[in-house]
Amino acid sequence: MVDRNGRGRSRNHPVLTGSPRSPPASFVEQANVTDPEIYETFEAQWPECWERAADRLSWDEAYDTVLEDEDAPFYRWFTGGRLNAAYNCIDRHLESGRKTHTAIRWEGKHGERRTYTYRDLYVAVNEVAAALRDLGVEEDDVVTIYLPMIPELPIAMLACARIGAPHSVVFAGLSADALATRMDAADSEYLLTCDGYYRRGDAFNQKSKADNALLKLEQDVQAVVVDRLGDDLPHVLGDGEYDYHELRETFSGATVDPVSRDAEDMLFLMYTSGTTGEPKGVVHTTGGYLAHAAWTSHAVLDVKPEDTYWCAADIGWITGHSYIVYGPLALGTTTVMYEGTPDYPDRDRLWEIADRNAVDIFYTAPTAIRAFMKWGPEYPDRHDLSSLRLLGSVGEPISPRPWNWYYEHVGREACPIVDTWWQTETGAVTVSTLPAIDDMKPGAAGPGLPGIDVRVVDEAGEPVEPGESGYLTIARPWPGMARTLYDGDDRYLEEYWNRFSDPEADDWRYFSGDAARIDDDGYLTVLGRVDDVMNVSGRRLSTTEIESAITDVAGVAETAVVGRSNGTGDTEVVAYVSTEGGHDDENAVREAVVDSVESAIGPFARPSRILFTPELPKTRSGKIMRRLLEDVANGEELGDTSALRNPEIVGEIQAEIRDD
Ligand code: WTA
Repeated sequence: MVDRNGRGRSRNHPVLTGSPRSPPASFVEQANVTDPEIYETFEAQWPECWERAADRLSWDEAYDTVLEDEDAPFYRWFTGGRLNAAYNCIDRHLESGRKTHTAIRWEGKHGERRTYTYRDLYVAVNEVAAALRDLGVEEDDVVTIYLPMIPELPIAMLACARIGAPHSVVFAGLSADALATRMDAADSEYLLTCDGYYRRGDAFNQKSKADNALLKLEQDVQAVVVDRLGDDLPHVLGDGEYDYHELRETFSGATVDPVSRDAEDMLFLMYTSGTTGEPKGVVHTTGGYLAHAAWTSHAVLDVKPEDTYWCAADIGWITGHSYIVYGPLALGTTTVMYEGTPDYPDRDRLWEIADRNAVDIFYTAPTAIRAFMKWGPEYPDRHDLSSLRLLGSVGEPISPRPWNWYYEHVGREACPIVDTWWQTETGAVTVSTLPAIDDMKPGAAGPGLPGIDVRVVDEAGEPVEPGESGYLTIARPWPGMARTLYDGDDRYLEEYWNRFSDPEADDWRYFSGDAARIDDDGYLTVLGRVDDVMNVSGRRLSTTEIESAITDVAGVAETAVVGRSNGTGDTEVVAYVSTEGGHDDENAVREAVVDSVESAIGPFARPSRILFTPELPKTRSGKIMRRLLEDVANGEELGDTSALRNPEIVGEIQAEIRDD
């Protein structure tokens, strides 16, 4: 059984999987991948099987070797090959006569709409690329992008890709501190941001956050600012700041040749929460990442060029990178981008957009599906959703009840659901059913994709029996995998490889940080994180990062942060805080704690409960017993507390949480 500090028994995991369902016949008839032998073929031809992924792309120069593993686990894919990601996502579709095909359909928060054809996207990306060059951006310079869900975000990403400058997109809801940390870590001297954006109806000032971040940096930064709000939020540009639209005008009609990049050159950096307070800069490459994103869009999400495809995620996280921008655009489809929330102006907003755009494929997170279920079927029922052909889920375990609800009320029992397990570090989907081939089991994501060798193992790295839980590891490399961490190779080895690998035997195992159970058919039920990372509304948060923001508050002596399942399957952040002598105004501390977390990370990381306790429960060696605090927060039976130095504190905390 999984047990590192007793973690890995995530509380929102499905206890049982529901009855299997076969892929609907109408779907199978038209699916991209239908050959059930694909698993065996990939096995027999590994690693050359991955050429199928690479073949989805246009290469300037063919690669010589599919996989180089001499320096494992620093694997190299498609070496010798050269390509450009923006060329693959735009130019080649123009060349194949699809200029007027819609690339991006943008649905703004207040009903605004914009459509970019592939030709429009080409023009915009070229102009921005020319402007960035003019500002001095060179190949391999990291450009930070701090934009909300507006079309300028994917345009900026593709402009960077065009000139071979890796982008580092920082989620717009992250704080000034978080932006500064990321720009500092990446030594980034260029920033694309905006004046502000609408949040819950109000104009929200993004530029002031960016300004505050820049004040903290040593390097000089040149910033391009998109005027999103116009008169709703006037702003002034300072030195080294340029207006996005003016730049586009200056470079109107300019074109920039796509820079031919080595397959292993960095396409982007994506910061994500790790087991320590410092976010990790995950490095993704041009060839392997793009091939994997495009291949899984084709094989798992069944995307076709004529589809209208909608991944309702934020481009500020990996899901949006791979499945709003790179995967779908590489395949030349129409990708929908939505700026707003699912319940504004009403709870049928997503279904209204799906209906009006005749969306074929819809991909979202379980937290959203649980909200839809709570709101009731009348909202999807108001609309014609018969255009939908496939549904996807990502980011958290989905239990059978919301799975079935999604299947019935959104998919009308005619759409397969793919429950896709993957991570920022895996780059693209690694575990899922193939929708026309495999039965679906509500509550279980599925087997490893063809060519992905997923193993659930015990503490010693030995495979567990079906039905048992263990650690989710991957035994062979795959093209979309992160190549390293920007902060250094040592941390990469430490975070992902050291635990289950045997370097002497040259046996390398990637450790995901997740626990899972595997059944007789090789289907995985993911149980959640086993490390100090929490999954809150499909976003990764590090408990250490939140704790360090709380400890910054004057008067806080010590804190421990845990996740609590709120009964509907969502995880909430609970903070236990003990104060220093003299700080007995709990309300003042409570407010300061919330402020500190919001400014260090962002509002979404705010603890939903802050519980004061004279002491935290500790082992005799002085380690905080987080497992126990997690059990208390979740109202669970407590196990043995005899290892504690201060067992009496547990009853006090329990009483406090009941009264709260
Ligand atoms: C969780 C998001 C269960 C998991 C793509 C993983 C899932 C973390 C699933 C990565 C799923 C993602 N079932 N859990 N289908 N998909 N997860 O890096 O804990 O933001 O480690 O990538 O989300 O989150 P990340």
